[in-house]
Amino acid sequence: MGMRILGWGTALPDKVVTNSDLEKTLDTSDEWIVERSGIRERRIGDSTAELAIAAGRNALAQADIDPASIDLMILATTTPDQTVPATSAHVHHALELGGGAFDLNAACSGFVYGLVTANAMLGGGAERILLIGAETLSRITDWNDRNTAVLFGDGGGALVLESRPGKGQLLAWDLGLDGSARDILKSEVGGTIEMDGREVFKRAVRAMVDSAARTLQRVKVRPEDIKLLVPHQANIRIIQAACDRLGIERERAAIVLHETGNTSSASIPLALVGAIQDGRLEDGDLVLLTGFGAGMTWGSALLRWQQIPASAADSPYSGESS
Ligand code: ACO
Repeated sequence: MGMRILGWGTALPDKVVTNSDLEKTLDTSDEWIVERSGIRERRIGDSTAELAIAAGRNALAQADIDPASIDLMILATTTPDQTVPATSAHVHHALELGGGAFDLNAACSGFVYGLVTANAMLGGGAERILLIGAETLSRITDWNDRNTAVLFGDGGGALVLESRPGKGQLLAWDLGLDGSARDILKSEVGGTIEMDGREVFKRAVRAMVDSAARTLQRVKVRPEDIKLLVPHQANIRIIQAACDRLGIERERAAIVLHETGNTSSASIPLALVGAIQDGRLEDGDLVLLTGFGAGMTWGSALLRWQQIPASAADSPYSGESS
């Protein structure tokens, strides 16, 4: 069964916090943050549900479909608004979706885990799925800790996926987890993020490169055939190292972290939608998503791209378009 992209959307809080803003309260500098991470500013605010609803609404509008025709919504988040019920309950209600919904927590790999899960559900009877990654990491960031405060931000991104035979497909995937490293990046219930940055950095490059290479190997796709790499947006140096080791030109990576910081589950859809909006993708292109996160989790997904922009979709509700 194929998978095509009917719509996409993002959401960012209004409040921009620049590196210069952080210089006022932390022993840090714009120069250090840019050189070590590539981040220049991040957006802070809203709840996870608010960001998920805004991103989901934009994606549904782009898809031009009846929200009730959604069979399943998956909300990838590591920062739910409360423990019970799942944040997806709020989002499902606000968007007037059909079908079921659940939260998925695989930290920064969440969107890739969600995409692989969505693909399996599309092959198992679901016709339309809304996949959202949304986070409010600012709520679990210690704003007095320069080791972490400079890195994180809030945001959301969403895709509407449809099961349909055709060019669009998830060709291969790889998911993994090494729970022995669960303490190098963590936040206790009610606490803030604690991180061994150097250790995360080292493992992140290795995890992304190995996972991406395994994914390509599964379908014998060469790195030079990848049109767009959409990596988790944690640190520009991690992304560049991964590109170099994979043999994918750095220019082929989608980058938004300079404006968003690390938004965990939201970072891959934010970068992907940015690339779509910049006109970097055409039907048939090979797109490789790859991420890593707390756990440590990692995941990669290779897509053959097929999108139906609203202008080309049948209207209303684009049910029968090919
Ligand atoms: N401003 C100025 N100096 C700083 C700052 C700061 N904000 N933060 C740390 N430093 C200092 C350190 O104290 C250290 O000083 P010392 O040499 O006197 O001890 C020095 O800068 C160098 O520190 P390093 O940790 O070696 O710096 P590094 O080059 O490794 O960069 C960074 C740090 C940016 C955190 C990097 O290690 C990194 O990005 N790691 C990965 C983090 C990550 O991806 N986390 C998210 C994972 S995904 C998820 O699930 C949320």
